Amino acid sequence: MSVNIIFATGNQGKMREIREIMKDTDAVLYSAKEKNISTDVEETGATFEENAVIKAKDAYEKGLAAGITDAVYLSDDSGLEVDYLNKEPGVYSARYMGEDTSYDIKNDAIIERLNGVPDEKRTARFVSVIAAVLPGGESFYVRGELEGRIGYERKGQYGFGYDPIFYYPPLGCHTGELLPEEKNAISHRGKALALMKEELVKRGILGGR
Ligand code: IMP
Repeated sequence: MSVNIIFATGNQGKMREIREIMKDTDAVLYSAKEKNISTDVEETGATFEENAVIKAKDAYEKGLAAGITDAVYLSDDSGLEVDYLNKEPGVYSARYMGEDTSYDIKNDAIIERLNGVPDEKRTARFVSVIAAVLPGGESFYVRGELEGRIGYERKGQYGFGYDPIFYYPPLGCHTGELLPEEKNAISHRGKALALMKEELVKRGILGGR
């Protein structure tokens, strides 16, 4: 029997990534938007884990109210942690310097705050936590990370957010220089989605196609 998975996002890029990862399973995937479930919820958590669970539970409650009782709800919360900045911007990655401030300005500000800081202290990581709420209401989460360093200038024409300043040592370039499929193959979200798939299979919720 196949399982319905509702991903609490309206973001098409995230949907494409999860569809790709889940394509060898029997999951039937929907975005919350496709199910008319609003993803509007305040992210009041202090950690990625708390926010991811808040978002997944919110979608679960709204789904129940709409009469959906058999679905698994997933949501992700992600961001950039810069070690030298005490892990800022962290859960505030989207809100850093204001939600409407351009990423060129945000990225330049981070480079400026690291002015004179040597390579070994420029360590940073992208984090993605994916939370699941099961039909009975039980929740759990998994975490994926991508380790790198803050570069010295913005580079690349791909990606989004902080990709232009995120140097990824194994490939010797900024993630903003990677094609979408190259980035997905190494990304924090790709890792978290793969772990979520593994966990759902282990729990007997997901099967093969
Ligand atoms: P979310 O959609 O609430 O998880 O917000 C995540 C924020 O973290 C984004 O708006 C970006 O600023 C940042 N972020 C997360 N993942 C990435 C990535 O892969 N590249 C660049 N920035 C990212």
